[in-house]
Amino acid sequence: MPTIKSKKPQAKIRKVNFKFEKPFPKHWFNSNPIATHFMNAQHLVFPDGEKFFIRSVKAFTEVYANDEELRNRVKNFIGQEGTHFAEHQKFWDIMESQDLNPDGFVDFYRRTAWDGVEKWLRSNLKNKRIGDKLSLSVTVALEHFTAMLAESGIIHKDITEDMPQEMKDLFMWHAAEEIEHKSIPFDVLKKVDDSYALRISGMFIATFGLWFYLTKGTIYLTQQDKDVKRKDVLKHAFSFVNNFRKNFGNTLSSQYFQYFRKDFHPDQIDNYYLAEELLKNKNYA
Ligand SMILES: [Fe+2]
Ligand SMILES: [Fe+2]
Repeated sequence: MPTIKSKKPQAKIRKVNFKFEKPFPKHWFNSNPIATHFMNAQHLVFPDGEKFFIRSVKAFTEVYANDEELRNRVKNFIGQEGTHFAEHQKFWDIMESQDLNPDGFVDFYRRTAWDGVEKWLRSNLKNKRIGDKLSLSVTVALEHFTAMLAESGIIHKDITEDMPQEMKDLFMWHAAEEIEHKSIPFDVLKKVDDSYALRISGMFIATFGLWFYLTKGTIYLTQQDKDVKRKDVLKHAFSFVNNFRKNFGNTLSSQYFQYFRKDFHPDQIDNYYLAEELLKNKNYA
């Protein structure tokens, strides 16, 4: 095994308060509306997703109640995700002021993902708590995704270079904490049910769900945006996909498949040091 560059950090709950000034540039990411709306879609998808992560680990409190270390780690995980959703949700107001009508997408997302699929799983697969376990497994898989995206985002700093400072800080802080807490829900799932089939089933649902809602959100917001010229959509989409592939492609394609190894654990991916450096440089206590 290659040398590990950093030791596992303790996830900490940090006080932050990002402020977005109005008027905020409408196409704030690379002056590219498609790239911007992909990021805006994350502002809409993450908060309810993070509330789902919290529900999923809380559903098994009794499993780690007597394990003091894991109980504390889960408390910090919940605290971090709770701060994340609140900070991302602040941007909804700006999107509203830009006539992007974020509620239209959020309503669809809530109706289908949480009041639809999650509710169905939890209420119909009650035997051996399969529905709850599957929800936790989806959470673990989504945490793998957020850690992969976070690693790429931190390594390829130049992609956020042109972002308004406050937005850049929000995404970088979130990225660092995603890496910091990546193994916590994984360790809960291991204690709840160590089944390989369960972990992999969660990954299939997560892969479909994440890309479906991010794509749907990007298309929805682009359609709402009156300042996007139809004739330029393909050009912007092509440039966005090309940049995304260049900056995120390698990490996503290699680390995604590592998840399918039977003995996989998030600690095997050595990226804690990236989070640690970033949080230290930015003076987050
Ligand atoms: Fe998060
Ligand atoms: Fe997370």
